[in-house]
Amino acid sequence: GALPLDLFDAIATLKKELNAVILAHYYQEADIQDIADFIGDSLQLARAAAETNADVIVFAGVHFMAETAKILNPEKLVLLPDLNAGCSLADTCPPKEFAAFKAAHPGHLVISYVNCSAEIKAMSDIICTSSNAVKIVEQIPKEQPIIFAPDRNLGRYVIKKTGRDMVLWQGSCIVHETFSEKKIVQLKIAHPEAEAIAHPECEESVLRHASFIGSTAALLKYCQESPSQEFIIATEPGIIHQMQKAAPQKHFIPAPPENNCNCNECPFMRLNTLEKLYLAMKNRTPEITMSEEIRLAALRPMQRMLEMSL
Ligand code: 13P
Ligand code: SF4
Repeated sequence: GALPLDLFDAIATLKKELNAVILAHYYQEADIQDIADFIGDSLQLARAAAETNADVIVFAGVHFMAETAKILNPEKLVLLPDLNAGCSLADTCPPKEFAAFKAAHPGHLVISYVNCSAEIKAMSDIICTSSNAVKIVEQIPKEQPIIFAPDRNLGRYVIKKTGRDMVLWQGSCIVHETFSEKKIVQLKIAHPEAEAIAHPECEESVLRHASFIGSTAALLKYCQESPSQEFIIATEPGIIHQMQKAAPQKHFIPAPPENNCNCNECPFMRLNTLEKLYLAMKNRTPEITMSEEIRLAALRPMQRMLEMSL
């Protein structure tokens, strides 16, 4: 059928009817961020999902995030506006290969970045996000060997911060590996007052030019608190919507990709649209499901993360 003229109104009505909460990641398009009840980084969204009283969680983000919400809320209906909203990083870590990797490193504690499938979580001891990875690794006894998966860039950053030696799964994100060191250096020369800040999924060659490295929420907070008036943002530019709202007088420059493309936008995050979000609520589908066996196995390392990052 035809779409209602005012999607914002229609979504607000459905939200009441369903007793739904809309959780959105910072990489969602501006309209989705504006209609969300809660916007956050992966850790904040997992916490919000763990605490909500709503019957329905509409997850405006990618599949592993909605799956995380389902792991924490088996009795709730969890909707993802577009089921094809995957994650290139999560896809670099297939369960079969990861099981073999684990078997090749006996006695290792497995710490997995939340950007992975429920199957990988089920094979992990502790989950982390970019905002608590350092804090979690620091709590592991020194003599305990660690496997860190799936992001090698975050892994390398955590090794640098903690001085811990970890075995890294060689995964990465296509979006964060698209930033060009050369173009960031050129931008810094053109904007000598600008501070470059970056997400730890970026490569070392980009991170070394950043005066601050953190999760999306940490980057947002940093822009508000830093006295600088101009920033070069090396992460998905969706976050700039909130930066601009929080500090309207400041200037935010998205770090450019290597080629002249818009591949610094996450193609998976951007599959979600306001229309698809409305239709998902109206039709109560597509829904996130998983076997109870996988869910329970994935829940344990999630709970350990929530306890260790209080
Ligand atoms: P944050 O936890 O920093 O929001 O990161 C999520 C993500 O997918 C980064 O690419
Ligand atoms: Fe995955 Fe990268 Fe998109 Fe984040 S930006 S959701 S890590 S593909």
